[in-house]
Amino acid sequence: MSPETRPDFLITPEGLRLDGRRFDELRPIELQCGVLKTADGSASIRQGKTYILAAVYGPRELHPRHLTLGDRAFLRCVYRMATFSVPDRKKAAPSRREREISMVVANALEPALFLEEFPKTVIDVFIQVIQADGGTRCASITAASLALADAGIPMRSLVPAVAVGKADGKLIVDLGDEEDKYGQGDVPIAILPRTEELTLLQQDGYFTREEFLEAMQMGINACKYIHELQKDALKRAYAKRAPEGSDEEEEEDEGGSEYEDNLEADIGESDYDEEDER
Ligand code: CDP
Repeated sequence: MSPETRPDFLITPEGLRLDGRRFDELRPIELQCGVLKTADGSASIRQGKTYILAAVYGPRELHPRHLTLGDRAFLRCVYRMATFSVPDRKKAAPSRREREISMVVANALEPALFLEEFPKTVIDVFIQVIQADGGTRCASITAASLALADAGIPMRSLVPAVAVGKADGKLIVDLGDEEDKYGQGDVPIAILPRTEELTLLQQDGYFTREEFLEAMQMGINACKYIHELQKDALKRAYAKRAPEGSDEEEEEDEGGSEYEDNLEADIGESDYDEEDER
């Protein structure tokens, strides 16, 4: 257990955040796609000290078959935190929080996809948090949508996401871990940038109506900035990719029983104990 002390304040007398950011300033963000060889599409995100990998497989045959949807693809998202991703070792078994975030991420991505074009298949999105320092659900959505695009899956749009919150009475964008834990509120959002349609909206804490509307606008502006970074990452990856020509397609094995067992545990069908939710 690492003892953690609550900071006396989150906003300094100079009107800056503890890491020196302005209220509307995002942490440095680095996005990269095509980072994993085995996946059909992949992406990584570094947002401050938060570091996440996303891998996409599919559309492909769905195992276990009873999950098959007749009229569209099943978008199966699995968000997991590495045991070493937080200071207190996280249990390896999937927690309820991880299952909730898996669902929230799928719901945020789904409106961007044409799932009806791939009935009876699955699109698997595996998200692994390597280091968590706040904002992992939003960073997961940002990275996963980039990985989906990298996999060549038809999309209406990329999906940028960010959290807006409140600390010491001030609205702040892109909360770090301390701001998330000790702040007064947290509103993670994801949008389809062209229409500004919200695909994720959650809220923790109390906001007045005026604060909430201002928070929304700050979040949408931040998402639009992240969207530009997503597009740049895609362009960089495609510019770098060598012209096709070599036949390096490697067919993957059909999902064997061992694989299915593990996946069922991942998507929450196991009877693991879960105690490490926050
Ligand atoms: O990550 P996000 O803000 O989307 O989700 P959260 O549930 O509000 O968690 C906030 C932060 O708490 C995470 O980003 C981690 O830094 C931290 N956390 C932790 O230290 N241990 C856990 N088991 C889960 C989260």
